[in-house]
Amino acid sequence: MIVFKKKEELAHYLLSQKNRSIGFVPTMGSLHQGHISLILQSQKKCSITVCSIFINPTQFNNIDDLKKYPKNIALDLKLLENARCDIVYTPSSDDLYNKNEQAQNYEFNGLENCLEGKYRPGHFNGVATIVEKLLRLVKPNYAFFGEKDLQQLVIIKSLVKSIGMNIVITGCPTTRDENGLALSSRNILLSKEDLLYSSIIYKQLLLFKKNYLNTSIIELKNSIIKNLTKSKKIKIDYFEFIEIATLQPKLAINKETKYAACIAVKISGVRLIDNIIL
Ligand code: PAF
Repeated sequence: MIVFKKKEELAHYLLSQKNRSIGFVPTMGSLHQGHISLILQSQKKCSITVCSIFINPTQFNNIDDLKKYPKNIALDLKLLENARCDIVYTPSSDDLYNKNEQAQNYEFNGLENCLEGKYRPGHFNGVATIVEKLLRLVKPNYAFFGEKDLQQLVIIKSLVKSIGMNIVITGCPTTRDENGLALSSRNILLSKEDLLYSSIIYKQLLLFKKNYLNTSIIELKNSIIKNLTKSKKIKIDYFEFIEIATLQPKLAINKETKYAACIAVKISGVRLIDNIIL
């Protein structure tokens, strides 16, 4: 495994590998088996896998959230080495951003303003800014993103289309712990008790999936919100039944359309998101 810290060195190396298909897994580190599953998907499709580790400051609209974001670069490198990742790019901020550089302003036809966008203004401008920089640098054939961040995945597909890059954006299924909690770098901020309690999120998503075809969506949503808010520990930002292509909430079902139920909650102040694709 080769580790690069400078974009020029990475670009120079990748130029020498031009005849190989490149798979790319961008991350913010604090890696877990969910990230490793993306690396494995990339290895199945591509002959060389590049993983980036960079906590992107422009996608945090809250400075405390950025400060608290977990870091463990030594463990990350060990996990990537064990997974036989070929290349890791771990830049510092000044390798990717000029001094005082802000996120660019993108237009994603409203995809960026709903769900997470409502609670994290500017978040997707930051995500798109860094993802565009990284894609232009790595020039992968395929890039892999978790379906856990479904809105991010939909927006990145739209970004790649709008900048006209020939990259296949591949969504990969969410990896869960033994109780169903979606793996997330933020899970280590939860106490043991809250970690167990958080499995209620996926249980309620499964309940939605089981019943949404034969119950009123509004009644089902309300009963799930009621189930979730029985405990004072949990604060719901949103629970929405959405059409995946537009991310817009829906109340009725059309057979040809793909839907998901998406949720964001805070458990003892730790913000968790999840979804179920229906
Ligand atoms: O999903 C993430 O970890 C980040 O949003 C990403 C795509 C690496 C951009 O910083």
